[in-house]
Amino acid sequence: MASRFREVLNVEVIQGFTHFLRNDLYETLARVDWLSFTRIRAAELTHVLTSGMEMVGFGLQQLLMLVSTLVIAGVNIAVAFTLSPAMTALALGTGALLLLILRPLNRQALHTGEKLHQARKEMFAVIADHLGGMKVAKSYGLEKRYADYFRHATGRLVDQLLDFSRTNAATRMFYEIGAAVVLSLLFLCAVQVFHLPAAYLLLLAFLFARLLPKLSQAQQCYQRICNILPSYGAVLAMQARLVQGQEPRQAPAGEPLRLDLGIELRRVSFRYDKTRQHDAVHQLDLVIPARQLTAITGPSGAGKSTLADLLMGLLVPDAGQMLVDGVPLAGPRLHDWRRAVGYVPQEAFLFHDTVRANLQWAHAGAGEEEMWRVLEMAAATEFVSRLPQGLDTVVGDRGVRLSGGERQRLALARALLRRPALLLLDEATSNLDLENERRIQEAVQRLQQNLTVLIIAHRLSTVRIAERIVVLDQGRVAAEGTWEQLANQPGLFRSLLQAREGMS
Ligand SMILES: Nc1ncnc2c1ncn2[C@@H]1O[C@H](COP(=O)(O)OP(=O)(O)OP(=O)(O)O)[C@@H](O)[C@H]1O
Ligand SMILES: [Mg+2]
Repeated sequence: MASRFREVLNVEVIQGFTHFLRNDLYETLARVDWLSFTRIRAAELTHVLTSGMEMVGFGLQQLLMLVSTLVIAGVNIAVAFTLSPAMTALALGTGALLLLILRPLNRQALHTGEKLHQARKEMFAVIADHLGGMKVAKSYGLEKRYADYFRHATGRLVDQLLDFSRTNAATRMFYEIGAAVVLSLLFLCAVQVFHLPAAYLLLLAFLFARLLPKLSQAQQCYQRICNILPSYGAVLAMQARLVQGQEPRQAPAGEPLRLDLGIELRRVSFRYDKTRQHDAVHQLDLVIPARQLTAITGPSGAGKSTLADLLMGLLVPDAGQMLVDGVPLAGPRLHDWRRAVGYVPQEAFLFHDTVRANLQWAHAGAGEEEMWRVLEMAAATEFVSRLPQGLDTVVGDRGVRLSGGERQRLALARALLRRPALLLLDEATSNLDLENERRIQEAVQRLQQNLTVLIIAHRLSTVRIAERIVVLDQGRVAAEGTWEQLANQPGLFRSLLQAREGMS
């Protein structure tokens, strides 16, 4: 009865603790800033949140067992002590000596624990890479290589597990042999030196016989805890990394910001790697007027996406200021601003869910009519109504059941459903054919009377519709103006234009 109660209590404590730790970690993850997040491998996070947590739970179970075993052992020792203090002291002394001798094995357990953790981490990494790059892996004919990687990683895992159980078994064996020897010597002592009466001897024998397995068990628990410590360490390290990258706690959400005048960047600089010399965006001055279509173009690596992330408030400038309608973007305003931006990246992300759910993700209360309205704006009505179950068709993991253009148009519709103040398209149409791009362009042009639109694209045909084009190069504004102005002045834009004409 008591042991059943203890078991249930144990499970409650362990599950309660891991549940708390896991959710705490996840909440920290949700509030981590974008830059810190980009530096964390997703596989590592999954590893820590799943198998890492299980290990921690197991470790805690061992810890509880260790404590309860030690308590029981303590009672035994106390009784033995009242019978014969000298004998008990001798037994404890030799027991401690035995543990000291076995210490290297515990250290070895810690060491295998570290390797075990690495092997598990690697297994997760291989899975994540393979799943993420399945198509490329298949097209490169790398199936076998991934299977080999995986076998290698799991093989190492098995090696480490075996290694640990070997250490564990060896420890137990040494301990038991040692204990038997010590015990015999003790009893010899008891009879020859202390001349204890037979009844005492019997009682002591009984107590020691109960005590020894407990101590052995305690030692085993301790060793398992040593083995798990590296996993726990990894959880703590991940926690610390996430905490370091925390955004300030969000104030209760206000209304999404409006954009009536424009966005202004004043000498904004940003560098990803603070130890390097090179700014991704360097002392940038830029004004994006409200209710206009502005485009940003420039060669690859010019800092266009970095600028987009800055404009969205995902990255925070290292120097300089960003103002929305003349007010600096900081504190709670940053979050209200983010909710005012509709963002469509190059590879739009869709959930494994229905079209409806994917749209409602941006705006939970959106009705059917509104959804069709934004689908219409995004030139997506036609293909959505052709889907087998219309709005209720499941789009598949990351939208694999749709074409690239369809995915992008759905993502655009989703961004519009938020009624954003700023629509930000970062190479959103780069993967589309010209026909699809034109349809989105027309949709965007229609929107632009009451919406500020920023299009980022290296393809010049994409930026042609913009009222103002900004050419970015090496994190600086190289030129800005209308298409005609830029085409008629020498510079980067004209050479980009000529390069394109040379191609066609
Ligand atoms: N997460 C990151 N960590 C470190 N450096 C980065 C990161 N993202 C971008 N960079 C660097 O910052 C610079 C600007 O990159 P950015 O992605 O803004 O270019 P881009 O103009 O969008 O290029 P593309 O047209 O190829 O998309 C590049 O030199 C790039 O190597
Ligand atoms: Mg980019």
